[in-house]
Amino acid sequence: MYIIQTSSKFRKPADLNPQLIRDLAFKGVDPVHGFLPAEEPLECLPAGFEAWERIAAEVPALLMVSKLRPTLEKLRPPDLSRLENEQQLRRAMLLLSVFGNAYVWGGEKPATTIPQGIALPWWEIAEKLRRPPIAAYASIVLDNWRRLEPDKPVELDNIATLQLFLGGLDERWFYLTCVAIEAKGGPVLRTLVEAQKAVVEKRVEFLAGQIKKIADLLVEMHGILLRISEKCDPYIYYHRVRPFLAGWPELGVIYEGVSEKPQKFVGASAAQSSLIQSLDAGLGIKHQREETQSFLQGMRSYMPPKHRQFIAALEAGPSLRQFVLSSQQNYPTLCDFYNDCIRNLNNFRKTHSSIAANYILRQAPQQTRGTGGTNFVHFLKTVEKETKANLIARSPLDTKSIDEGPGCLLRKQ
Ligand code: HEM
Repeated sequence: MYIIQTSSKFRKPADLNPQLIRDLAFKGVDPVHGFLPAEEPLECLPAGFEAWERIAAEVPALLMVSKLRPTLEKLRPPDLSRLENEQQLRRAMLLLSVFGNAYVWGGEKPATTIPQGIALPWWEIAEKLRRPPIAAYASIVLDNWRRLEPDKPVELDNIATLQLFLGGLDERWFYLTCVAIEAKGGPVLRTLVEAQKAVVEKRVEFLAGQIKKIADLLVEMHGILLRISEKCDPYIYYHRVRPFLAGWPELGVIYEGVSEKPQKFVGASAAQSSLIQSLDAGLGIKHQREETQSFLQGMRSYMPPKHRQFIAALEAGPSLRQFVLSSQQNYPTLCDFYNDCIRNLNNFRKTHSSIAANYILRQAPQQTRGTGGTNFVHFLKTVEKETKANLIARSPLDTKSIDEGPGCLLRKQ
């Protein structure tokens, strides 16, 4: 039984009603920082896990001198019953994810078997958290940060990472950019929930305010994404960071002591972020093409279960898009704000596509696959098209202002 955090060290906005805070907490969502944990991630496991913590602090050094594999092979599984709550399980999952991925990818050739000392506890903890035993966004980003000044906000200039593979500025900055985007976009989640309530209650002015808030937050998230190049160099990313985030090799990997059968999981990708999928769900953006639908659905199994459920709840909730469409004659401003959301999300995605091209394709033109496994240039373009298709024409003559180029499909319903 996991503890549901209903209190948080983070300041709650004064305008939130306590029931909404409880509802969000139940879904594993913090009203301020969204999918980041309500309490800052643990920095150390309890007594009994000293060996793990000692190795965790030395991963970059051990990788550098090729001694990580022999060190991990000597580990014996500790007594997992000493892990008493979800925070501890999540820290354990982070450490094991770093050990496991570093073990597989930290040698001349990828390892095909993960030794029992890591494989057994990793499998067991992953089952408890209901996530696959491989390094994924939930561990490497959501559970991998601390504030430098505890009283200051979770922003790029006030956070540090907890765990790294090879280490260094570029690796830190890559993960922290994602953390900062999650933090900035956190309020989007409660805003989407409030907006759906406003749809039911037909509170149009309040709804307009919520939709505008989402559009503004998207601009700020985009601003953070643009900062990735400040301290994460594309060459270092491609050659020193990305290899450890890859999915298992073609023939899979055996988890010793768990099963003789090789297991296959995809690599860590920000496509496992629940924030962007929540925006899609709340704004009614559908990814229905073959190449996008199954991949994005599949990414949900790498998210913490409560986050998956939150996305599903938004999808099943009252449709913002339908409400905006049906009231556009009487309330054109609603439609303008909604279109701002679509444009801003599309701009975020366009910038992201150029980043992916710069950090992957320009470093290795033969590399067509993302760590998540997509044929990424085509995949990201399709996701953009599916986003843009949701712009709502204000009048039959209005297509010029919304059709930004070839490939823009206008969705009427
Ligand atoms: C060096 C930086 C980055 C690179 C090279 C990169 C690359 C990729 C690639 C190749 C994909 C396709 C899926 C796959 O096969 O993995 C992808 C998907 C995705 N990435 Fe990134 N990414 C980067 C940074 C980010 C950041 C900072 C975010 C924001 C949190 C982000 C959010 C997403 C999302 C949400 C998707 C799914 C597609 C979508 O919904 O638009 N990425 N990324």
